[in-house]
Amino acid sequence: MELTIIFLREYLESIDIDNHLKSTLYAIANGAILVQEKVDRLSIDGHTGATGDINVQGEVVQKLDELGSQIFLDCFRTSQSVSIVGCEELENPEIISQDPNLCIVNMDPVDGSSNIDVSVSIGSIFGIWPSTNLNEITNKSLLLAGKQQIAAAYVVYGSNTIMVIATEKGVSGFTLDNQCNEFILTHPIISLPDSCTYYSVNYSNWDQFSSNTKSQLEELQKTSSLRYVGSLVADFHRNLLKGGVFLYPSGKLRLMYEANPLTFVMKKAGGSATNGNENILDIVPKELHERTPLFIGNTKEVNKFTIG
Ligand code: AHG
Ligand code: MN
Ligand code: MN
Repeated sequence: MELTIIFLREYLESIDIDNHLKSTLYAIANGAILVQEKVDRLSIDGHTGATGDINVQGEVVQKLDELGSQIFLDCFRTSQSVSIVGCEELENPEIISQDPNLCIVNMDPVDGSSNIDVSVSIGSIFGIWPSTNLNEITNKSLLLAGKQQIAAAYVVYGSNTIMVIATEKGVSGFTLDNQCNEFILTHPIISLPDSCTYYSVNYSNWDQFSSNTKSQLEELQKTSSLRYVGSLVADFHRNLLKGGVFLYPSGKLRLMYEANPLTFVMKKAGGSATNGNENILDIVPKELHERTPLFIGNTKEVNKFTIG
């Protein structure tokens, strides 16, 4: 059976969402095509390895982290649809415009940095909020709860490149056709399967896990298979398509540009996420780079994990 070709831009034109949101999602797609080109040519162009800088997280900045960050920022500036961007690699947000009708974006431009130089799947993650009701855009304007998001998107640069978009209209996936440099609708409706096929955890952190986490993992290993890539976005994507739960209980992951966007996607697909205590989307953020424990996937499994 032949696939009816629907380009991302046609899809965006066809759905009833805010025009600035459409432009923002299109800007992400344009940026992802440019990042994918960098990923493909990393070793050839000498873009492997670290820049020599340490980011606000205290983590080593890879050359691709910096390139990705600049590429997406440029795309948002050009789109004229984004007022302010929070980014993992920037200590302070980048204010682009004071227009209160534009979108607020928090992004992890390159997720899975430890996998960049070893040809393993990596990705990009974006949460999108409205900037309505703000008199003035300041560095604090993007400190909004996850439940106020109007959309989220992520890209996986893997065995192929896929962009997944979640809006009020649902969750859909678009595969990059390298021959025409266009994203094509390949996964019209993504919905989380009921069964928890996989569970994903870094077992080397076992000694830090609570007794609840340890006993729930012992139960999960009887019924589900372990898969752990080490790139959140790739682990998340597999579990979203196949059913599963991802956990990082120690609080390494970031609320605003990792947990919130992926929880928005998961919720729209039928699952949920908590920090072991409350729903991720209910957390009121205190700062752009704050970290959170994360349990995300099939609600039945997620709710078994609690942190006292
Ligand atoms: P980033 O590359 O954006 O800093 O994120 C890395 C994160 C996430 O992608 C992944 O789930 C986690 O770090 C892996 O951590 P461990 O290597 O400790 O398992
Ligand atoms: Mn990340
Ligand atoms: Mn990152």
